[in-house]
Amino acid sequence: PLSWYKHMRASSPVTFNAEHSVWDVFKYEDVKSIFADHEHYSSVTTENVTEPLDASILRLDPPKHRQLRKLVSQAFTPRVIESLAPKIESIAHELCDRAEATGRMDALHDYASPLPIIIIAEMLGIPTEDREKFKLWSEALVGDDYPAFVQCQDEMSVYFTSIADRRRHEPEDDLISNLVHAKVEGQQLTDLEIVGFCVLLLVAGNETTTNLITSAILCLDSQLNVKEQLMEEPGLIPQTIEEVLRYCSPVQMMIRRVKQATVLRGHLLPPNQIMQIRIGSANHDEDIFHHPERFDIHRSSNPHMAFGYGIHFCLGAQLARMESKIAIRTLLERFPHYERDRSHRLERMSSSIIFGVKQLPLNLR
Ligand code: HEM
Repeated sequence: PLSWYKHMRASSPVTFNAEHSVWDVFKYEDVKSIFADHEHYSSVTTENVTEPLDASILRLDPPKHRQLRKLVSQAFTPRVIESLAPKIESIAHELCDRAEATGRMDALHDYASPLPIIIIAEMLGIPTEDREKFKLWSEALVGDDYPAFVQCQDEMSVYFTSIADRRRHEPEDDLISNLVHAKVEGQQLTDLEIVGFCVLLLVAGNETTTNLITSAILCLDSQLNVKEQLMEEPGLIPQTIEEVLRYCSPVQMMIRRVKQATVLRGHLLPPNQIMQIRIGSANHDEDIFHHPERFDIHRSSNPHMAFGYGIHFCLGAQLARMESKIAIRTLLERFPHYERDRSHRLERMSSSIIFGVKQLPLNLR
């Protein structure tokens, strides 16, 4: 979509898409100003909250957002995230062990996808025997099959509600136990809110991190000398991940609803209009990034908005960064000669929100 974004930034940076009755916003400054302005732009997209995700922090405005976010932030402090590093490393190695014998792996299905799913399952306190089910849900939640999506939401509601019930009586050292025993303004969370947060973690945390890892593997494979530089100096991996976040932003757009009439670049926006905030375009804006079309791990400044901006800034950003850093470092250590299997044609995912490929076969030797 990069050439389309470029064209839109130059010709119609804020534009009404009549076919879908939504506004599209392409310039960095506009994207940032909308993220920063929760007075005029709301994250509440529906008034009738029946689905778990709509009860989650992603779809709340202050003051409720602030209260709930404060509570769940406790599970994502730098100390908690750091403490997960050994676990992430051991999973990454385990996945490499499995691929070693065959000399091949699909970097998406065999590596980048299971890693974040296992970590979230662990944080939530999902028993090991339920992991497979968890993975299937995780995939159905972001797939194109709507009936499967609805069924999966129902199954998850039943499942997480019953875990929450058990944790009420017998708390364990996990996130669901914390949620059921927490109080927001003297009130306990409802089942819908608890399920909503669990579903949000699956939706927000898995597919996004998976695509960040596969995009990073692809960038290393396609950019001259980057892989060699990283093997020589693994300390460059974090800034490389930041450049992948900018260059191939896993979340290409987010939604807001106009709450109070406002004006943006001369366009009057009436209440209830839906805004598509094009993060993927903002991160290639030539007014902010020098030669945005270049993949450059040595950028002197990289204020990308791949994780959003403002009060909804991604809660899992540090976790996603750490998982990707460990995934790339481990892959380079274990298979320094890996190469993309070029007999396989790369196919982009069809989603307009998530940016990634459908498969990524690698030859490891
Ligand atoms: C919010 C991107 C990984 C949990 C967001 C938002 C973006 C984003 C753009 C802002 C949404 C908005 O403003 O409406 C990403 C990307 C990821 C990633 C690109 C990986 C590369 C994760 C992970 C987790 C997570 C690993 C948790 C395990 C959340 C949550 C929110 C959020 C809970 C809602 C925060 C709020 O509304 O206050 N993410 N995310 N994300 N993300 Fe992530």
